[in-house]
Amino acid sequence: MKDTSRRKFLKSTGAVALGSTLALNIGLPKSSFAMNSDTLKVGLIGCGGRGTGAANQALSADKNVIITHMADIFQDRLNLSINSLKKIHGDKVKVGKETQFVGFDGAKKVIDSDVDVVILTTPPYFRPMQLEMAVEAGKHIFCEKPVAVDAPGIKRVMAAAKKAKEKNLSLVSGFCWRYHIPKRETFGRILDGAIGNVQSVYSTYNTGGLWLRDVEPDWSPISKKLRNWIYYNYLSGDHIVEQAIHSIDMMSWVFGDAKPLKATGTGGRQSRTGPEYGNVYDHFAIEYEYENGVKGYHFTRQQKDCSNSYGVELMGDKGQCIVDVIRGRHTIKGSENWKFRGDSNDMYQQEHDELFASIRNGKPMNDGEWMARSTMLGIMGRMVAYTGQTITFDEAINSAEQIGPDYIDNATVFADPEVARPGITKFS
Ligand SMILES: NC(=O)c1ccc[n+]([C@@H]2O[C@H](COP(=O)([O-])OP(=O)(O)OC[C@H]3O[C@@H](n4cnc5c(N)ncnc54)[C@H](O)[C@@H]3O)[C@@H](O)[C@H]2O)c1
Repeated sequence: MKDTSRRKFLKSTGAVALGSTLALNIGLPKSSFAMNSDTLKVGLIGCGGRGTGAANQALSADKNVIITHMADIFQDRLNLSINSLKKIHGDKVKVGKETQFVGFDGAKKVIDSDVDVVILTTPPYFRPMQLEMAVEAGKHIFCEKPVAVDAPGIKRVMAAAKKAKEKNLSLVSGFCWRYHIPKRETFGRILDGAIGNVQSVYSTYNTGGLWLRDVEPDWSPISKKLRNWIYYNYLSGDHIVEQAIHSIDMMSWVFGDAKPLKATGTGGRQSRTGPEYGNVYDHFAIEYEYENGVKGYHFTRQQKDCSNSYGVELMGDKGQCIVDVIRGRHTIKGSENWKFRGDSNDMYQQEHDELFASIRNGKPMNDGEWMARSTMLGIMGRMVAYTGQTITFDEAINSAEQIGPDYIDNATVFADPEVARPGITKFS
């Protein structure tokens, strides 16, 4: 990029100028490396496990990155996060008492501050509105998956992502396998025809139970639920959207992020039935149908003491490909047999290396369209399982059903939707 246009990009996006050892890693010309010496400020919204991890990766992406603002709705989560980051990054953590925000308005305070980059790692319910606010404020964004819990949320995300593009803002998604070198090489070969036309994809995310956190008796009803947000479908999207979406994203990737025609499926809750598990299912099985009879089959469960699997198996008209996430294997059997034998990478670090490099070299990234599509596929899977109906993609994306409240603050009282019953729960 010519210097003048690079400067224009930095000015228009509110980012400050360049520089870092990262420039060497990603092969930037040395001339721009020399000028890339200004500091980029990060704000973290949602200081839990992933948020703390993402902030660590942002601070490691580039020697001139600092974190200045943090927000969470729980003081203990914020304290834990700040202490872990300080242990690793010392002086790069410049978050004083006046820039730590505890409460539902904290996200806006971080976004309205002078940070250059925001990390959005709250439960997915909040993602569409926080993404909109961040784009409006001209911030570069790292946005965890999933990006919404329902179709109206997806539409908001698509509009915000489009606006981010118009404003030359970088928007990087937390669909981390897209930043994993072995997957990039494997699926790159598939998209180049290594197994011919892909006829079907079998994807799984079969795993055990997840965490259940203690709550305090005097917390507000919504705070108690937010402490265990994964078990409330209007906060997490249910586990097909919140977790299994990683496998669905791999399926969508090898199909070139094409739109499926329709889906049919089933699901329920058998092992995780107590009230502490809110209203989510513990298993789903979905069939996605694409043009020309091409199919995607997805199985997921979160049930203790069962056999696990996580990966995708692709059948093409000229071969087969297996990606086994648990064993870290990537193999193709086709006209040429192939196995990934190269060096793997830390995909979480890669996301931030590429995000910060894009800001510094004035080449904005935008993962908006496909991150919205992959999330929508998970939502569509939930819709067909909950209702027991076959639903087209167009019907799903045009659903006006908003599954959560309009907004959430400490005073919110929201009756949990009943556990869905196929054939009885209606699609709307
Ligand atoms: N890409 C991956 O591999 C990966 C891995 C784990 C989690 N995730 C995603 O990251 C997100 C966070 O997951 P997590 O495991 O860190 O959960 P978590 O519960 O550990 O962290 C979420 C944090 O957000 C806080 N929070 C809730 N509402 C908030 C609000 N309105 N404003 C500010 N803070 C708020 C919570 O108190 C909590 O500390 C989820 O979308 C999850 O799906 C992605």
